[in-house]
Amino acid sequence: MKIAFFSTKSYDKDFFEPYNHQQEVSFKYFNASLTKDTAALARGYDGICVFVNDHLDEETLQHLKEIGVRLVVLRCAGFNNVNLKAAEQLDIKVYRVPAYSPQAVAEHALALILTLNRKTHKAYNRVRDGNFSLDRLQGFNLQNKTIGVIGTGRIGASFCKIMKGFTDSILAFDKYENEKVSDMGVKYVDLDVLLEKSDIISLHCPLTPETKYLIDAASLRGIKKGCMLINTSRGALIHTGDAIEALKEGKLGYLGIDVYEQEEHLFFRDLSENIIQDDHIARLISFPNVLITAHQGFLTKEALQEIAKVTFQNILDFQEGKESENRVLK
Ligand code: NAI
Repeated sequence: MKIAFFSTKSYDKDFFEPYNHQQEVSFKYFNASLTKDTAALARGYDGICVFVNDHLDEETLQHLKEIGVRLVVLRCAGFNNVNLKAAEQLDIKVYRVPAYSPQAVAEHALALILTLNRKTHKAYNRVRDGNFSLDRLQGFNLQNKTIGVIGTGRIGASFCKIMKGFTDSILAFDKYENEKVSDMGVKYVDLDVLLEKSDIISLHCPLTPETKYLIDAASLRGIKKGCMLINTSRGALIHTGDAIEALKEGKLGYLGIDVYEQEEHLFFRDLSENIIQDDHIARLISFPNVLITAHQGFLTKEALQEIAKVTFQNILDFQEGKESENRVLK
């Protein structure tokens, strides 16, 4: 099977190359991200391998089908960027890597919390500059603080386990209770209770029509003043304009994000010499209490190894017509 690989980064190649030309599977790496305009690159390929910001809308999928593509392998867990209905109608099979390393993302959420709280990023820059003052570096103990976790699947559960090391007061909200999480002593509550009681809220649910703008002006009105909000899930869970207003008012005390609604125009590339046209991200960058990372939650050696291994297996399963749990559409 010939696979066209979109949005290739050097680390993708490092981890996928060992599988190239194995068991009749070959990869051709393209730097371009997938859009309706770049879909033509996949002519002559049986399948495509894509990442979070590659666009698989109806028009792109239709074009892919016309040029012979039968398979989409996502090298990520989320699949909100794929029009699944269109894929099904076109008989294009979609696979993903549901759980390459929940710990990688959960640990990154903790990194955002600790950095925002203890301001190690600022201390690092100060000390390098010969400034050993402690002014404005004060943080707070995580011990006994209330942590609210929205979405307690694989990543949310891993995050709860980590946070149990800091506090016994963890609240959760999910459509379905996860027994493993309740067994840790985490208490499931309604969303408004979680918003009201939590000192730190971390988002770990997928982006769906139901969860889009889960955090907006109305929900931000219900949070504790000074609350820290962490999003390592998908950008559009937060209404960015409303979050900016809440930060300006001081209602939202800290914001740590690894994902951003308009990230596809920014993330995964070096724009340091460009004029940033996105006023929302520019405003967010200007806040001293906002920390942004460019979708690197997954970026650990263990996660990348697992992504490559499972993606390769997904291609083999498709090739051999095997049943797979990783098929998004059965
Ligand atoms: P999962 O499917 O194991 O868990 C998601 C949980 O969210 C489930 O328990 C589900 O019941 C819950 N949920 C669904 N709709 C909900 C709603 N309306 N309200 C409350 N809870 C709801 O997914 P997993 O593996 O934990 O991943 C979570 C998300 O993390 C992914 O969807 C993806 O967007 C994001 N992610 C981010 C990465 C990064 O690099 N920053 C890497 C991998 C995933």
